[in-house]
Order: sequence, then structure tokens, then C-alpha cells
Amino acid sequence: MRVAIIGTGYVGLVTGACLAHLGHTIVCVDSNPARVAAIESGECPIHEDGLPQLLKDGLRRGLLRATSDLESAIDSCEISMLCVGTPSADDGSADLGPLLAAARQVGEALRGRKDFHVVAVKSTVVPGTTDTLVRETIEHNSGRRVGDTLGLAMNPEFLSQGSAIRDFMEADRVIIGAADLRGQRALEDLYDAFDCPILTTSLRNAEMIKYGANALQATLISFANQIAGICEHAPGTDEAVIMTGLHLDRNLTARDGAPCGATKFLRGGIGFGGSCFPKDLEAFRHFARGIGAPTEMLDAVIATNRRRPADIAGLLDRLLGGLNGARIAVLGLAFKPGTDDLRCSPGITLAAELLARGAEVRCHDPLPAALAQASDVLAQRNLTDITLSDRLDQVLADADGAVIATAWPYYRDVDWRRAALTMAAPVILDGRDLLRGLPPQAGLVIQPIGIAAPANRPSHIATNGETIR
Ligand code: UDX
Repeated sequence: MRVAIIGTGYVGLVTGACLAHLGHTIVCVDSNPARVAAIESGECPIHEDGLPQLLKDGLRRGLLRATSDLESAIDSCEISMLCVGTPSADDGSADLGPLLAAARQVGEALRGRKDFHVVAVKSTVVPGTTDTLVRETIEHNSGRRVGDTLGLAMNPEFLSQGSAIRDFMEADRVIIGAADLRGQRALEDLYDAFDCPILTTSLRNAEMIKYGANALQATLISFANQIAGICEHAPGTDEAVIMTGLHLDRNLTARDGAPCGATKFLRGGIGFGGSCFPKDLEAFRHFARGIGAPTEMLDAVIATNRRRPADIAGLLDRLLGGLNGARIAVLGLAFKPGTDDLRCSPGITLAAELLARGAEVRCHDPLPAALAQASDVLAQRNLTDITLSDRLDQVLADADGAVIATAWPYYRDVDWRRAALTMAAPVILDGRDLLRGLPPQAGLVIQPIGIAAPANRPSHIATNGETIR
């Protein structure tokens, strides 16, 4: 089928490249000419495993192109997918400005044409948005009616950064919310090659499924972090072992030992970040409050996540016997491994917390693209006292402690024994439980999250059951 992808951010680009890979003809539309030029020349503007190759293949096969000219793009297509961002507004709601601007332009481009065209919303929007604001905008600007020569659908994405291509190609499910049967059929045809359950439903259910899915995963993370926070005050307990015990519940791990996906999120850490969970939970809560619905669970999930950086800073404080004037290295700024995305980066939030407690903070990330964006992000947040370096040795030199904030495999492969020799106090707080299982190293203290720190700065600390130093 011929599909226009409106908005070439991470969701739009992955969707376009994957649909082209499946043989559909894709036009990617973006108002940013530099982005269009990059895509057209086969340059992938974001860091996502497998995406550069898919883009190149799509271009080479003539199944993918990019343009800023929305009208001509739509002219050759049967489906327009709205994939523009829905950033947070100040009150926590999603800012619909970019989405409605795209809907207006699509509507205008459809005016004067006679053939059937489906507009599918892929952007994450609260229930009712597609059926009211998007519908009205398109109908008003196109002069068409949904159910006549206009189809309207809501088709949420369930992509996780770093594994987005696999998530798309081997989807767990495809959700098609549709306002009309013809629109629904067009989307069913688009996903014809998919070997997974396809749930067709109303626009509002499709919108709510996306928020429900994110809220569920975020709830699991905050649950694990609440347990971790309790363990950090309860000597003799270890959150990771406790989670392993919980994972063995037959509802989470089958008798043959295969873990179900939920266990991926039932692990303590320094909290969730990224472009989806923080923003979508806020928007979902704002929506629920606005209609007078209860939000206690969402409140708790958000609050638990918000306090996590302060909990981690507190743990480091207890471990080091104070943070004021301490030189602390924060390792990892990308919100998760496999991406250069710094949106709602837990590493940056933690760095800010440490700075506020009087520490001298230096940050490192092994991905140059992530580090390149970091100085802008720090400047925007008035955090220019935090220093950045791509050299781990520089960041660790003379440091009184380090915190691993992103589970980059790179940090697992560091020769920590040698690195420790350069530190003033060789204490690593393992915020992602990345180093567990590494043999204890003499002279190095590794403190996993989810374990209580000794009350006073120790001369030696038991790690992984061994006494070191
Ligand atoms: C998420 C969902 O996984 C995806 O289905 C949805 O479509 C969009 O939001 P993403 O934000 O890319 O995807 O990443 P994810 O791997 O879910 O991680 C989100 C955040 O949670 C990261 O900051 C990650 O470090 C954190 N996380 C994840 C934890 O803190 N603990 C965990 O156990 C898992």
C-alpha cells in the first residue's frame, strides 16, 4: 500500500522504514528540510539499532523517500499516518499543537481529491482526541466526512527504543481503532503480513490501550523501585534476590523456565525516563483527573519514580559519609542503553540531585551522539556546573564515588580494578545492577542498588558476600 508518514521522529521513521521493508511504498514527510535531506541521502538521524540499514534498503529499492511537501506526498497515498510528537504542556497534558497542525495540513491536501483516504493517528493521545479534535480538524479542512470518502483510525505504537525494529517486525499485537469499516479494512490490509493478534476496536479504546500499556509497565518498575527503596533501609535484604524470588512465580516464569515479559520491568534501578513513560503517565493522569476519575495508582507510580534519584543520592550519601564537596562521576546519560535519547534522562536528574547536595559532578556517556546533546540539555536546565567528558578515565580520576546510571554494556566491560586505582575512593554505586556477578575485586567497593549502605563510611564493605579491601 502507499502510505504517507507525517513526522519523521523516532516513531515515524521506524514505522516508515519497517513498512517499506515489508514492501509498502512510503513517503516520509517532515517540515524540517535538514531532516528530509538527511533521510534522502541515506543518513539516519537517530541512533537506533538496525534502522540505518532499513532506511538505505528502502531508498535503494525505491520504496521509501522523504519530502517536506505534504500535499504532493499525500497525493500519491491511500493512508496518512500522523506520527508527530505530543510533548508535555506545562500542566502535564499532551500538547496537541503539532498533531492538529498536521491534521489540518492533511485535511487541506485532501480537499479537491475524490479518492478514499484513511488518516491514522499513531501519536499517543488521550481517549477522545482522534474522535473529536482530529476528526473535526480533518473534516473541516478537507470538506469530507468520515465514513464517506474519509477513513479515520487510531493505531498506537508499542516500540521500545533500542529494540524498535524488532518490536515492530515481531509485534506482540496490532491495535486498530477505527471510526469506519473501510478505514479499518485499509489498516488490516496494511498489517496483513503480521503474524500476531490484531485487535480491532473503537478509536477511544485504541487510545486508552496505549496509555494502559505504558502505565502497566511503569507500575511494575515503580513497584520494584519501591521494594528497592525499602531494602536500602533494611540491612540484610537484597532487592535483586527478592525480585528473582518474585519472578519465579508461575505467573511470571513458566515451568520450563521461560520468563514472561513482565519480569523485564520488575527490577529496581534509578527510575524510568525516556520519551514515553514520564510524559504519557502525566498526560494519562491529567486526563483522568480532568474527567473526575480516580488516579491513586498513577499518583503512586509517578511519585515513586520522582523520588528515586533522591533515594539513590541518599544511598550514596550514607555510603560515602556525606556528599558535600564529594567528586562524583555519573556514568550514563542516555535514558537507556541503545539510544542517544536524553529525554527525561535519569542520569541527568541524578546528576542534578547530587549537585544540589553539594557534590562536584562529572558525567560520562560512551555514545558520542548522547554526549553531544548533553551540554545543551544541561544548559537548558541551568546545570552548567556539571562537567561532561567522553573519557571515562578523566571522569573517574580522583573521584570519591561513581554511579552507573545507564546499563550500557560498555560499563560492564571496564577494568574496574584498574579504574579504581585512579579514584580517591573506589566506590561504585551500581544504579542498574549491571556489575552483579563480576568477581569481587580487591580495593573496589561495588554497592548495588536495593541493598542498605552501612551507616558510616566503611573501611571495607561486603560485596557479593565477599569482604574486600
Ligand atoms: C517504553 C515501552 O517499553 C514501550 O512499549 C512503549 O511503546 C514506549 O515506552 P522505551 O521508553 O523505549 O519504551 O523504553 P523501556 O525499555 O520500556 O524503558 C523505559 C525506562 O524505564 C528507561 O529509563 C529504563 O531504564 C527504565 N526501566 C526499564 C527501569 O528503570 N527498570 C526496568 O526494569 C525497565
